[in-house]
Amino acid sequence: MQYQGEKYMNLLIHDLDEKEWEQIAQDYRGWEVIAPSKEIKPCVGCFGCWLKTPGECVIKDGYNRMGALIHQADELVVMSKYTYGGFSSFVKNVFDRSIGWVLPYFTIVDNEMHHKKRYPEDKKITVIFRGKGLTKEDQADAKRYVEAVCRNFYGVIKDIRFEEQNKAVDSTGNEESTTYSAYKAVTDCNTDKTCAGDFGRVILLNASLRGESSNTGRLLDKLAGSIGENIETINLSACINNPEELVKKLLSAKRIVLGMPMYVDGIPSALLRIMEMMEKAVRTCPSDDKKIYAVVNMGFYESRQIKNVLKQVRKWSKKCGFSYCGGVAVGAGEMMGMLVKSINGANGPVKNVVEAIESLAGVIKSSSAIDDIYADAYKFPRSAYMFMAGMGWPKAAKLNGLKKKDLLKRIEE
Ligand SMILES: Cc1cc2nc3c(=O)[nH]c(=O)nc-3n(C[C@H](O)[C@H](O)[C@H](O)COP(=O)(O)O)c2cc1C
Repeated sequence: MQYQGEKYMNLLIHDLDEKEWEQIAQDYRGWEVIAPSKEIKPCVGCFGCWLKTPGECVIKDGYNRMGALIHQADELVVMSKYTYGGFSSFVKNVFDRSIGWVLPYFTIVDNEMHHKKRYPEDKKITVIFRGKGLTKEDQADAKRYVEAVCRNFYGVIKDIRFEEQNKAVDSTGNEESTTYSAYKAVTDCNTDKTCAGDFGRVILLNASLRGESSNTGRLLDKLAGSIGENIETINLSACINNPEELVKKLLSAKRIVLGMPMYVDGIPSALLRIMEMMEKAVRTCPSDDKKIYAVVNMGFYESRQIKNVLKQVRKWSKKCGFSYCGGVAVGAGEMMGMLVKSINGANGPVKNVVEAIESLAGVIKSSSAIDDIYADAYKFPRSAYMFMAGMGWPKAAKLNGLKKKDLLKRIEE
């Protein structure tokens, strides 16, 4: 144990319901416990925890001090429903709101781009997944995901365990027999009526809460331009308060493109929540087959880091009875988002991304499938991208009245 004076503190993040928690609560007396007892807001991708109030999230809903809590903790235990090879939307939300634990600046770890540490220590992490009938492959997927999170977040894996959930549950943790009154609204499966040769509408969902000004939005615009017709683009930011309506709309389409930024090596929690809701809805009212495509972008350089996200989308598709038909993974997304509309796209650093999006558009048009495409910057070295980002953070912070050294703030109390 690492004692702070006389005190030490352990941190537990869990998504148990009240009944489940009551059964184990006495084992965690004295722990700092982060639980779904109060509403948590999703990360909106503003980087305020790096550039406005360094180390602390700007959304003051009681989950804003996660970075400091992780720092103060001797070790971290995470209990999560096994959800498509990763965390449940609540636990993922907590992680998304924790990026103040690291600095915005980039460094290289194991030949991959990651963030520099804000605090000097690494953190011991135990993860306990609950699921029903998890296969060896399911477990291996979750292990790979936790390893990626730990590489990114300076975690040292103490243990990863899988507990069999004895009651009949779906991957969102709800008893299978439950009647989901909340999902009645989404169960009148009025899927597009299509004629032979007509594949129906394509819905492009932009799951970045930065909305239209997001890199996801720009990549999806490019995709929409290449697909041409019969498209509807929806911004999750515009319907975040009416998720049932969004689910209903998504379930009415035959082809869906999930556009998203990668957050902490996974699907952003706001989208994950919608995916969980869709799974519940199709359980109540099985839907016809849907073709699922994905466009995922990320801040780091190497698109290969998106592998876990695409796997999670694939696992979710299978759970829902949909067909996963391929995705595009975009590295250096903050640069590619800006460049994707440029006229010299054919030859500039965005070349690979433009080509990948055009290939994806081709298969979406013909309602067919493609292997995942990993698109990195074309002839633009990682060191140059890192240098540019390193210059950009203090400039952006200056606009908020902060000095370069303010970005390094450690919250010790
Ligand atoms: C909470 C949060 C977590 C993030 N985690 C990662 C990450 O694990 N790896 C990565 O490469 N980028 C990460 N990013 C960076 C975003 O993926 C990147 O900025 C992306 O371009 C944002 O896309 P958007 O404009 O469509 O939202 C994260 C950003 C946020 C806000």
